[in-house]
Amino acid sequence: CLQNGDTFLHRCVGTNVVAAQVKASRKEETEDGRKSLNAVQVERQEQAERSVLISCHSRTNERKFLKYFSRHGDINKYFFYESYGMYAVVEFASQEGVASLLEGAAIPSIDYESVVPFKSRSFSLRNLGLAESPNQQSGKLCQPQTTIPINELIKKLSKEQSIDQQITSLTEAYQLTEENIRLRFLVCSLLKDIAAAYFPECTIRPFGSSVNGFGKLGCDLDMFLDLDGISGRNMAKSGLSLEYQMKRATSERAVTQSILSVIGECVDQFGPGCVGVQKILNARCPLVRFAHQPSGFQCDLTANNRVAMKSTELLYLYGVLDPRVRCLVFTVRCWARAHGITSSIPGAWITNFSLTVMVLFFLQRRSSPVIPTLDHLKELAGPADKSVIEGNDCTFVSDFSKIQVQSNEETLEQLLCGFFEFYATFPFSRMSINIRKGKEQNKPEMNPLHIQNPFETSLNVSKNVNTTQLERFVALCQESSWLLQQSDTTTPSASSQGDTPVPWGLATLLLPSQVAGIKGRKKKKREPASEMIKSLLESLKNKNPQNNS
Ligand code: CTP
Ligand code: MG
Repeated sequence: CLQNGDTFLHRCVGTNVVAAQVKASRKEETEDGRKSLNAVQVERQEQAERSVLISCHSRTNERKFLKYFSRHGDINKYFFYESYGMYAVVEFASQEGVASLLEGAAIPSIDYESVVPFKSRSFSLRNLGLAESPNQQSGKLCQPQTTIPINELIKKLSKEQSIDQQITSLTEAYQLTEENIRLRFLVCSLLKDIAAAYFPECTIRPFGSSVNGFGKLGCDLDMFLDLDGISGRNMAKSGLSLEYQMKRATSERAVTQSILSVIGECVDQFGPGCVGVQKILNARCPLVRFAHQPSGFQCDLTANNRVAMKSTELLYLYGVLDPRVRCLVFTVRCWARAHGITSSIPGAWITNFSLTVMVLFFLQRRSSPVIPTLDHLKELAGPADKSVIEGNDCTFVSDFSKIQVQSNEETLEQLLCGFFEFYATFPFSRMSINIRKGKEQNKPEMNPLHIQNPFETSLNVSKNVNTTQLERFVALCQESSWLLQQSDTTTPSASSQGDTPVPWGLATLLLPSQVAGIKGRKKKKREPASEMIKSLLESLKNKNPQNNS
């Protein structure tokens, strides 16, 4: 009998390209089971191609649901979730299951409206003429697709017994779940079906935080339309040969813009559940932005964005090298969001990507480094790792086992403390953050914050950040560093108010700040630090986490 969450052995359809890639990518697994990002992507893509998205009634009976879908083929995995209604993802053991489903589905007939007859793998499950069964599984069996609210997180963390446990607990609460990752790959795969109308050999791959290991539930879905799989024969050396007639454009950028413009139009006009489509084609990296309602994801579709794919791979590699990297990045990202250092609205704020690079740099700068520099990873690269994209050298080692384990044994608490201390006193006005060298460099330009793009080295990842935002970041680092040195903060609270434990440790750092609220920042700045800190401690003692929403 099938259980929600069961995974059965794959019976792959041997004929398609993806299945062949899966076989090849198995080699890319180290002895301890760590997989390369490429291997993960190929496996997940193949899984997604055998999956369908079902909109169903919230009172759908799970047993009948399974019976219905099993008639079309063996099911490897299924799960329910809520997003503007109830949905399910069903992964068949083979693509024949999907084909059978497509064959058996009806075209909706709606009074007073017409439909675009584009058949996708998004379906609605109708239950006509049958009484709905009472809901046996909604609620507890629905897989969450968003994080718990900050005040609940603060409560949860306050119950932990050490700061290290708090950091681990935060990471577990925030990281993407297995189901959410499947859903992300499924949305890419559904979108590929639209793009494939023009480019049958294309793939759409997620990049950024959906796959780099640092994604939080609810983060956006960055997608890359990959046309590199489109290939042709080499020209014959002599005699007659054919070449394709192809439309020409003035530059790669112009080609990207026209492709994204057309695909964006298709997504808008034909894509089930795709709403609010915006074509942002004049950005440095042209993109189509839209919301995919059935999954609840905010999507950014780009093309020809290979350097970003490389930086995703690099971040993934750093995350896999040492588990402390992910824990620290999650904690710093959450801390930054709680204090409005990062924002979901674009502007002069520090971005999550910049913050991640700052954490990596800090980890390289420990007296015994936690992770190696990018230059070192480049030295370890083999011939197959060589990669030059648009003149940028993006070479670094892909075989994890060639990278020597570092000897640093600091605890998560020590590292978190160290992070705040490091940036509380970093000479931002003169120096640039550089993970390639693992050492600060003189700033090449006068932007308040300079973080060198690891691959496009002439670019500053944090060019958008203004002085106010940088000052807020520094003030908050100072405050958090100070808090982590107080025994009041660092001792687990024995007492509680009702069932609400008194915030301590990391939970304290997520409470509203006293220094960086920052409307009267100038005034506060003139106050002696000792006074400021005294009042801060007083207010923290009585703080109610409910205020932080
Ligand atoms: N990227 C980059 N240079 C930048 C910004 C982004 O190379 N200046 C790449 C990074 O690989 C990044 C990805 O594009 O991970 C996606 O960018 P973004 O969505 O801004 O960041 P995420 O890492 O996905 O973080 P978030 O969870 O905030 O979306
Ligand atoms: Mg993103």
